[in-house]
Amino acid sequence: MTSKKYDMVIINGRVIDPALGFGKEADVFIKDGKIVKIENRNPKTEKEIKTCSEDQIVDAKDKIVVPGLIDVHVHLREPGREDAETIASGCKAAAAGGFTSVCCMPNTMPRIDNQETVKFVQDRAKVADARVYVVGAITKNIEGKELSEIGDLVKMGCVAITDDGHYVQNPEIMRRALEYAKMFDIPVMQHAEDLNLCGGGVMNESFESTRLGLKGAPAAAEEVAVRRDITLTRMVGGRLHVQHVSCKGAVDAIREAKATGLNITAEACPHHLILTDEEIGKEFNTNLRVNPPLRTITDRQAVIEGLVDGTIDCIASDHAPHSEESKDCEFDLAPPGMIGLETTVGLIKTFMIDKGYLNWADAIRMMSYNPAKILNLPGGSLAEGSDADITIIDPDKKWTVKADRFRSKSKNSPFVGMKLNGQVYKTILGGRVVFEQ
Ligand code: DOR
Ligand code: ZN
Repeated sequence: MTSKKYDMVIINGRVIDPALGFGKEADVFIKDGKIVKIENRNPKTEKEIKTCSEDQIVDAKDKIVVPGLIDVHVHLREPGREDAETIASGCKAAAAGGFTSVCCMPNTMPRIDNQETVKFVQDRAKVADARVYVVGAITKNIEGKELSEIGDLVKMGCVAITDDGHYVQNPEIMRRALEYAKMFDIPVMQHAEDLNLCGGGVMNESFESTRLGLKGAPAAAEEVAVRRDITLTRMVGGRLHVQHVSCKGAVDAIREAKATGLNITAEACPHHLILTDEEIGKEFNTNLRVNPPLRTITDRQAVIEGLVDGTIDCIASDHAPHSEESKDCEFDLAPPGMIGLETTVGLIKTFMIDKGYLNWADAIRMMSYNPAKILNLPGGSLAEGSDADITIIDPDKKWTVKADRFRSKSKNSPFVGMKLNGQVYKTILGGRVVFEQ
C-alpha cells in the first residue's frame, strides 16, 4: 500500500504562522516529511480526511498548530560532559519542549573550534529527535586569544560563531571575527559581559548582593560590552547577535543602534523575563546562578519592553545543563546555568502571553520565524513544500513543572514546582512524531 495520498493530517487545530501571516482553523496535510498543503475544511478535503485511517489523523481540536520552534542558544554538553547532557538527551528535551531545531554552543570539551568536532556533533545528531545546527567557537579553545579557522568551520556547516560563556575581551579579535563572519554571511553571537568589570561576581551587583554578602557583577559590565560591539559593528559591518540580554542598559544600547540602521539582533531568555535577583536570598537555590545574572525589577521590565517593541528579536532558552553533584554546593561555588528547553513554552505562555505582553503570533515569531531568519536556517514557517517540522500546543493546559518528568539528563531548573499554563502537546519533526504528551 504505497499509494497513500497523505502520511498525516493534522485536523481541527488553529494554525498560526507569523511568516505566512495567518491564524485560522485549518487542516495540515503531510506526505514524505513535507507539508503538502494547509486548507480550510471544504468538500474536497472533507472527503480526503474521511479516507484516512485513524493512525494518520492527529486531532488538534482546541490546540494551536505552529511551525516547529527553534532555539538559537542551547548547550548539549557532548563531547565532554555527557554526565550532564548528551546530544541525544538534549534533543529529547528539545522535542518535549516543542523545539524541532536547536543551535548548540561550542563550549564543550574539547571545544567546537575545529572541523573534526563539528563533524562529531553532526554525526551524533543524525539520529536525534531534533535538528542540530552547530555554532563554532570564535577563538581557539575559547581563550579569546587567536581566531579559530572560521572559514573551515563555515565550510563544515557552522551557522554562526560564539565564545559563549566568555566575552571576546580583545576588541581587535572581535573586529576580525566580525570581518570574517561578514565574508561568510553568518552572525557573531556574543556573550556580552566585560570580564574585567565582572571581576568574579556570582550574582547581579545590587542592593541584594550587598545584603547577601555575595560578590556582584554589575549590569554595566553587560552594557559596556554591548556598546563596544555596536561600535565595532558600525566600523566593519557584519552581523552582531547579542545573546541573553539581561539589563536595561543593553536594551537601550541595542534599541539606539537599531534605530541607526545597524544590522544587530538580540535574544532574551525566559529567566531574565521572569525572575529577579530578589529570588536568590530566599533559599540560595544554586539553579538561580546564571550568567549573565538575574537582575533587578527595572532591568527585567526593560527586557520585556525590548521584546515587546522589537528591540529584542527572539526568545532563546540558554539551556545549560549541570549535574546534580555540581550544583549541590554553596551558591557562589555552583557553575552558572539552568536548563530551559522543556519549560520555555509554558513560561512564555504564563508570564508573557497571559500577562498581556505578547500574543501567540508574537511569541511564535520570536521562537521560530525570527530565529530562522537570524541564522539563515530552514524552517520557521509552515509554507507548502517545507519540512513538516510542526509543534502542537495545548494553550490552556495547566501543569506543574516536575524534575522527574524532564527528558534532559540534568534537572537544574529553578522553576521546578511552579504551576504553568500552556503545554506542548505534540512535536513533529520531518513528518515524524518525536514527542507526545
Ligand atoms: O549561565 C550560563 N551557563 N551562561 C553561559 O553563558 C554559559 C552557560 C553554561 O555553559 O553553563
Ligand atoms: Zn552565554
